[in-house]
Amino acid sequence: MTLITDITSRNAQTEAALITPLVERWSPRAYDPTAEVDPAVIRTILEAARWAPSANNTQPWRFLVAHRGTDAFTKVHDTMVGFNQAWTDSAAVLIVNVAEIIDPEGKARAFARYDLGQAVAHLTVQAQHEGLHTHQLGGFDAARLHAAFGLDANLEVVSITAIGVLGDIDTLPDVLRERESAPRLRKPLGELVLAGE
Ligand SMILES: Cc1cc2nc3c(=O)[nH]c(=O)nc-3n(C[C@H](O)[C@H](O)[C@H](O)COP(=O)(O)O)c2cc1C
Repeated sequence: MTLITDITSRNAQTEAALITPLVERWSPRAYDPTAEVDPAVIRTILEAARWAPSANNTQPWRFLVAHRGTDAFTKVHDTMVGFNQAWTDSAAVLIVNVAEIIDPEGKARAFARYDLGQAVAHLTVQAQHEGLHTHQLGGFDAARLHAAFGLDANLEVVSITAIGVLGDIDTLPDVLRERESAPRLRKPLGELVLAGE
């Protein structure tokens, strides 16, 4: 069994000092298939999402929560592309991230996906603080997932967050194992600022 023993090797190499959960957050694919996450902890990370800012405080984020071993988990897992199915079966929880893109008056919410992303970012940082890891994914059939849960037309399924406890990287197929220890890269900070110092 090979756990990543030096977990700090996955830490972000930052150009400025950051708070610990941001330094330590990364997106693993090897999760412990026996580990469960207490629903109270899931409640806490959803609370972090709830307190994200949003356009006009519209709070257009919605979530489907599926614990491993439940029908809901299977339903979510079944919609993923094979690459993602190969590693997410060990995650303790899958959270489907849903945006309310149309308001009750039938008007489009221009910032719904932006706001949802920000809520998910809050959730991932709180999860890291709780000793969990998260991995967001877009490789799944959103229309199929929407239909599988009978969601209303004003809701759009945007992404999924896999959540769990780090596991054995030897359980991963070769191609995924290599990615698990590949260097974590980012564009230089200077490249991101288009104008100003
Ligand atoms: C919207 C979104 C979609 C993603 N889709 C996938 C995916 O389908 N499969 C996957 O393995 N990782 C996916 N990722 C994870 C990214 O590849 C990962 O966050 C990125 O490489 C940076 O790595 P880090 O999170 O460890 O810093 C996705 C991330 C986001 C935010």
